[in-house]
Amino acid sequence: MATTTIEKIAEQAAAFLGEAYFELGKSEEEAKLRIEEVMLQIEQTGSYTHTYDELKHGAKMAWRNNNRCIGRLFWNTLEVFDARDIQDEHDAASRIFQHMSFATNNGRIRPAITVFPANHAPNRIRIWNHQLVRYAGYDKAEGIVGDSSSIAFTAACEKLGWTSEGTRFDVLPLVIQRDGEAPQWFSLPQETVLTVPLSHPENEDFEKLKLQWYAVPFIADMELEIGGIIYHAAPFNGWYMGTEIGARNLSDTDRYNQLPTVAKLFQFDTTTNTSLWKDRALIELNIAVLHSYRKHGVSIVDHHTAAEQFLRFEKQEQGHGRTVTGRWSWLIPPMSPATTGIWHRSLDDTERSPAYRYQPAPY
Ligand code: ARG
Repeated sequence: MATTTIEKIAEQAAAFLGEAYFELGKSEEEAKLRIEEVMLQIEQTGSYTHTYDELKHGAKMAWRNNNRCIGRLFWNTLEVFDARDIQDEHDAASRIFQHMSFATNNGRIRPAITVFPANHAPNRIRIWNHQLVRYAGYDKAEGIVGDSSSIAFTAACEKLGWTSEGTRFDVLPLVIQRDGEAPQWFSLPQETVLTVPLSHPENEDFEKLKLQWYAVPFIADMELEIGGIIYHAAPFNGWYMGTEIGARNLSDTDRYNQLPTVAKLFQFDTTTNTSLWKDRALIELNIAVLHSYRKHGVSIVDHHTAAEQFLRFEKQEQGHGRTVTGRWSWLIPPMSPATTGIWHRSLDDTERSPAYRYQPAPY
């Protein structure tokens, strides 16, 4: 390994350990000893291994540092599952299913992450999915069926031998690839996927649209970097903010494009922009999302509450002597953004470490 890489890891490790041990209330002596031990390990092997406590706090810090996340008030509640000891793909899949059941918790969603072997360790894996639960998308002659954002991954799954019913809400399989091996796919056990059928509190015909979404967003394709160590497979989840589903997934014209359908159901005048039919349809669709999740006992947050929580997070961080970074364009909600406090703020979007980062798709 090039010396520059080793020097960089050493530098990142020392910075992370110093910060983490301080936050965990450990003594300077303990931090110093641990840093010395890690420096030696890096010198001898080019890398080092986190203790469980370091992994746990590092994963939480990475959430706290994520500039695009409005839900960071809860960073310290993250449950961290250590899966660095997996044997093979089957073992990895069963850890993932356990994570999914824990997180779903019959609807009372618990934020969690499962961390698989680091990039320098044996048995490292990649998860091909963008999210653990996601709907397939098919580019058919009649047009796109399902989720357009899944078209490439769906084709990759079909190439691996996965077959489906071709509906607009087919749950994709889990695809795991061990280093240097062929990818393997696994159907998600039914009990790991909670689904919410959408209904509207006033409009009884809304459920005839047969819309639905899954309960838990599990991001599976980002890498986690803690103190210079990269974990390529570290799927994590929180709960949804309603607008992610109602103002993006189901309403973007290049996703499920449901605003015209909802407008028709409510008989809004779609012949002119000035009727604001899109805005009215957005509101009804988002009311349906929040109503349905609540009705089915599934955790969800509306964008006003989430924005208030974000401002509380900033205060809380201030209280701990830390500043908050954030990316304004991601933190403002896609509906009525100027009605939230975040709109009126300016934010520094410097990227900090530990961090969750994008990585190239393996397929
Ligand atoms: N926006 C993504 C989606 O709609 C999910 C991103 C993570 N969201 C979350 N609430 N943790 O599926």
